Amino acid sequence: MLKLISNAFHNGETSALFNTEVAQHTRQFHQQIAGYQATPLVSLPQLAKHLGVKAILVKDESHRFGLNAFKVLGGSYALGQLLAQHLNLDISEIDLKTVAEKLEKPMVFATATAGNHGTGVAWAAREMGQKAVVYMPKGSSQASVNRIQGLGAECIVTDVNYDDTVRIANETATANGWMLVQDTAWPGYEQIPTWISQGYMTMAVEAAEQMQALEIQPTHLMLQAGVGAMAGGILGYFADKYGTDALTTIISEPSAADCIYRSGEKGEMVAVTGALNSIMAGLACGEPNPVTWPILKQCSNFFGSVDDSITAMGMRILGNPLAGDAKIVSGESGALNLGLLYAVATNPEYQAMKAEMGLDENSVVMMFSTEGDTNPDRYRQIVWHGAHSAN
Ligand SMILES: Cc1ncc(COP(=O)(O)O)c(C=O)c1O
Repeated sequence: MLKLISNAFHNGETSALFNTEVAQHTRQFHQQIAGYQATPLVSLPQLAKHLGVKAILVKDESHRFGLNAFKVLGGSYALGQLLAQHLNLDISEIDLKTVAEKLEKPMVFATATAGNHGTGVAWAAREMGQKAVVYMPKGSSQASVNRIQGLGAECIVTDVNYDDTVRIANETATANGWMLVQDTAWPGYEQIPTWISQGYMTMAVEAAEQMQALEIQPTHLMLQAGVGAMAGGILGYFADKYGTDALTTIISEPSAADCIYRSGEKGEMVAVTGALNSIMAGLACGEPNPVTWPILKQCSNFFGSVDDSITAMGMRILGNPLAGDAKIVSGESGALNLGLLYAVATNPEYQAMKAEMGLDENSVVMMFSTEGDTNPDRYRQIVWHGAHSAN
């Protein structure tokens, strides 16, 4: 149900690709997008008391540009960089409102997605007057397809899993001269994924500012991973800002797609293949991102692998808070860490784990609810009907 290993390869080495300085640039880029607003950092004092920690802070990404997920931060930054490169400009010189006028014809950006990244790319392409073609794996939710098409992009559902869909998007983009904007990397394809992970760092800058306003510093950082692109950007920022000695980081994934967990066991990248069946669609990725894997290996303290019931519990708790706490609508890939914290803090079976993680009354636990109810039918099945309860 829940496995946690301590990272034997941790050495606290930070990364020049993902540090506080880079993050300030990505934040400046996002600030010029119409409608930009920091998402709320929600403190849950009653739950913190209930679980015996000092504070639980949840960054609620369901409010990101009205798109219900954080992912657009990465796609938009990569599109901005690509357009700047195409026009021989620095990204700080790009005016998103007029950039399309500078091009003879719109650029076409292709991508593969479990839903949220494609939504972000489709939205960013539309905002910048460009085109997007989005590929989705077999079994993708119709809600996601509709959302992406509603943003003016072409959307194709394949009959293969996520990782193979990435390969299809790549081949088609190459054949058509489109620009592939993928949120994971492989040898020879690193620059765009680096920009995408850097784009995610805007979330971390906001969180740090919000914590400073609350006069509080995190002791624990809990991050979820698909390929680890988001976790890498955020951990890079936090490690640089707060130092790894002062921070305990836990990176977790669905057990059906726990490539980062297995890589953490081995100290090198390990891929998981097969159907990658999990309700955590955004985290159901079998191959680690080689651009962000080094920072995860160097700076994460623990790797977790959890069943779907853990995140389902997290969704129900966030959606039905204790009196005095605010409600957060958190989707399957967003609520994993709250579910994990709850399980570790309340289940006697995990007491040793709790102690090993150093969770106690002095702990300030920071996490990101990276999506809202992006799959509304499934959200209701879980939160209303109790689907995916632990047996
Ligand atoms: C809601 C949500 N959370 C987290 C992630 C994980 O991001 P990564 O694949 O960078 O690890 C994703 C990825 O799509 C996502 O959609």
